[in-house]
Amino acid sequence: MEDRYGRKIDYLRISVTDRCNFRCKYCMPEEVDSILHDQILSYEEILRICKCAGLLGVHNFKVTGGEPFVRKGCMELLRNLKELPGVETVTVTTNGMLLDEYLPELKRIGIDGVNISLDSLREHVFREITGAPGLLTVKKALLDAVTMGLRVKINCVLMQGINEVEIPDFVQLSQQYPIDVRFIELMPIGYGKQYTSIPADQVLGIIKESVPDLHSIEEKRGNGPAVYYTGNNLQGCIGIIQAISHKFCDTCNRLRLTSDGFLKLCLYYPDGVDLKGPLRSGASDRELTDVIDQAILQKPKEHRFGELQEIQEQDTRVMSGIGG
Ligand code: GTP
Ligand code: 5AD
Ligand code: SF4
Repeated sequence: MEDRYGRKIDYLRISVTDRCNFRCKYCMPEEVDSILHDQILSYEEILRICKCAGLLGVHNFKVTGGEPFVRKGCMELLRNLKELPGVETVTVTTNGMLLDEYLPELKRIGIDGVNISLDSLREHVFREITGAPGLLTVKKALLDAVTMGLRVKINCVLMQGINEVEIPDFVQLSQQYPIDVRFIELMPIGYGKQYTSIPADQVLGIIKESVPDLHSIEEKRGNGPAVYYTGNNLQGCIGIIQAISHKFCDTCNRLRLTSDGFLKLCLYYPDGVDLKGPLRSGASDRELTDVIDQAILQKPKEHRFGELQEIQEQDTRVMSGIGG
């Protein structure tokens, strides 16, 4: 369906848990009090919401977290989502640590894409960012996924003074393998506020040193806001997610479901529409669909990063609870 601003809303990002087995410095550097189990939507509840959203034209689903695979049964949710009537794509975004064992099943159900968050290819920097010694495990899963023919993208969040020197190494990965590498501007949410992002123009300049004929393409390679580039010596594409320096709000197609059952209409605003209440007080599918329909009509026009300092300062959310 369309919202008030004529945007087609067809993509739902589902955070199945706020927990994670990593402690990325810009996301959740310390253990956060995880939401109590009975406050978290069950997989049946999530599927019901997806079915109702599907009636309104939402046919693309992203399963994310925290880290989705730390929640037991995540694979079954993915399988069930693929079987929903009218579904177009089901994708997952993971840190890759637990991914390897699920790859055969992901292939079997026909997962439409696996996005792996990987911010460094150097063991000590990887460990410094994530707090975990997992680089080899993640790289193995990444390459196994490529070998199996899965559609793989890397998400690399760039931070000044931490990993921007690795841009050429990441580019090399998409020269060697059919992997899309996406560079993301760090958003000033939660712990992310402490670090400085690298503007996309600067990133593109660095990439051009290894891909001289780099040029943008129109092709849609997912449901998200990345803009893609290609060049003669690349097997995969380079994606740029300009979360800060370029607003993509006017083409926003998405909703977010938090693990505790709120429908968030924009990444920026702390509030959301409660779906768990109606779900648990016996709402029919029709009633639930109406709540989602009304919520979509409340979707704000745009984010206001960089404008309303006071909202940003009061905002204590961490990204793991929002689902990236
Ligand atoms: P595909 O394009 O389908 O591969 O997925 P995606 O890019 O939507 O999902 P992914 O989970 O890999 O997210 C990549 C990055 O895009 C994350 O850093 C998100 O925070 C960012 N992102 C996704 N949606 C929005 C949005 O509405 N606004 C902003 N500013 N950033 C977003
Ligand atoms: N800004 C941009 N991206 C972020 N992610 C987590 N926190 C931030 C932030 N503050 C990314 C993760 C993952 C994706 C789901 O969101 O690295 O790739
Ligand atoms: Fe976990 Fe991703 Fe947050 Fe890192 S960025 S702590 S991998 S949810």
